[in-house]
Amino acid sequence: MHPDCERVLLSEEEISAKVEELGRQISLDYAGQELLVIGILKGAMIFLADLVRKITVPTYLDFIDVSSYGASSESSGVVRILKDLDYSIEGRHILIVEDIVDTGLTLNYLVDNLKSRDPASVKVCTLLDKPLRRVEPVAIDYNGFIIPDEFVVGYGLDYNEHYRNLPSIMVLRREVYMKGE
Ligand code: PRP
Ligand code: MN
Ligand code: MG
Repeated sequence: MHPDCERVLLSEEEISAKVEELGRQISLDYAGQELLVIGILKGAMIFLADLVRKITVPTYLDFIDVSSYGASSESSGVVRILKDLDYSIEGRHILIVEDIVDTGLTLNYLVDNLKSRDPASVKVCTLLDKPLRRVEPVAIDYNGFIIPDEFVVGYGLDYNEHYRNLPSIMVLRREVYMKGE
């Protein structure tokens, strides 16, 4: 438990059991196909690293950096591509991997953007879904956990770039993110 956090929302054990279950389902659904996993920097990195090791079909990786949050706990609403994919996705089966869907702005933008590049298919996998915050609709194909409207950090998720390396997912104390704003 980190002193800036008030409680553990999801333990390492709960996360790893869920990641294994998601990997098993994805492997079944893509049986006989090749999969191109697209990770969204930087929040999805830890989840993606664990998830792809539970996927048994031939899997390729590429990364895109689409950021909608600055040094704030609130989405700015403006999606920026900071780094595009390295390769064409035309004709490929794409699985976008995210750590969390909050307002949906990031994924709504990204799904449209990637679909316009003529992939064979596009699906979305997120570890966390916070539906109470949704502004733009997002079709989620694989979801780990539905979570309440609380600010969570750890397992890749940050507040102002802090806490990404915490091994579990924790609720950040209000005082910590209120004083920065
Ligand atoms: C966070 C998170 C998701 C996105 C979700 O990323 O990792 O990508 O916000 O929010 P939304 O549904 O409201 O768009 P962020 O932009 O903070 O960048 P990061 O992954 O580098 O932390
Ligand atoms: Mn992110
Ligand atoms: Mg962030």
